[in-house]
Amino acid sequence: MKRCTTVQEVRQSRKALGTVGFVPTMGFLHEGHLSLVKRAKAENDAVIVSIFVNPIQFGSSDDLTHYPRALERDLSLLKDAGVDVVFTPDVETLYPQGFVTKIDLEGIASQMEGASRPGHFSGVATVVTKLLNIVQPQHAYFGQKDAQQCAVVRRFVADLNIPTEIVVVPTGREADGLACSSRNVRLTPEERQKAPALYKALQKAQSLFKTGERSCRVLEKAMRDVLHQHGLTRIDYAVVVDPEQFTPIKEASEKALALLAVQIGDVRLIDNIALDQA
Ligand code: PAJ
Repeated sequence: MKRCTTVQEVRQSRKALGTVGFVPTMGFLHEGHLSLVKRAKAENDAVIVSIFVNPIQFGSSDDLTHYPRALERDLSLLKDAGVDVVFTPDVETLYPQGFVTKIDLEGIASQMEGASRPGHFSGVATVVTKLLNIVQPQHAYFGQKDAQQCAVVRRFVADLNIPTEIVVVPTGREADGLACSSRNVRLTPEERQKAPALYKALQKAQSLFKTGERSCRVLEKAMRDVLHQHGLTRIDYAVVVDPEQFTPIKEASEKALALLAVQIGDVRLIDNIALDQA
């Protein structure tokens, strides 16, 4: 596995690689990330992974400072997974002095995660655009766990005619249903025990949908009830949304997503489920 830290090195390495599957990450890798790598490996001649904790997508410098990092461990996991190139730029490489350009999306980027974290999706869209321009992959892989991020990426890739196909990979979960996340390590043992309630709440909404319930008000109330039963009361949102706009809807369609963001102690967790998913 080759490690590159400059744009030039990536461009040079990429030339020899044939079709490339690209997996952008912020590191502190877990099974969810590795499922993206596995899928990329199955569908391309070569795999490039980036590890970059992107400062411009964090609202508070606190969250950025506390973002967990474990570069040596990540590199060894990626090597074992058969990755060809890992790109680990530093902040000055991607945002040199004088950098002033940002990608902004109207509509979708101001809903849900966008409303809770102003500027977040502009930061994501800007860094992903840069990374796609640097790596120029045939396919880029994103996790369904961050459903709104997937929708944002699909949108600007289409709008800007970026010649990369976006592939969305199902959410990887721990045995008890908690979605894998780099943030999970910051939960205390007691908080970690409560955290699977997010998935339980989503499953409740899904089972009600499957037995014919279509009122989003009822589905949302059911999710809140499950969270409350498990002692989770700091609910940022528990909603049913349109999967492209991420606006709340009144009546759930086959395509609708149930979406949660819950604060547990110092950690904010998100998760989602497609209501008609098998
Ligand atoms: P990060 O949180 O490191 O996630 C990298 C990729 O892994 C994202 O596409 C994310 O959706 C996916 N992922 C995370 N948890 C997952 C899980 N449990 N199952 C499946 N996939 C999962 O998302 C980012 O980084 C950044 O915003 C980034 C796109 C790299 C831009 O900075």
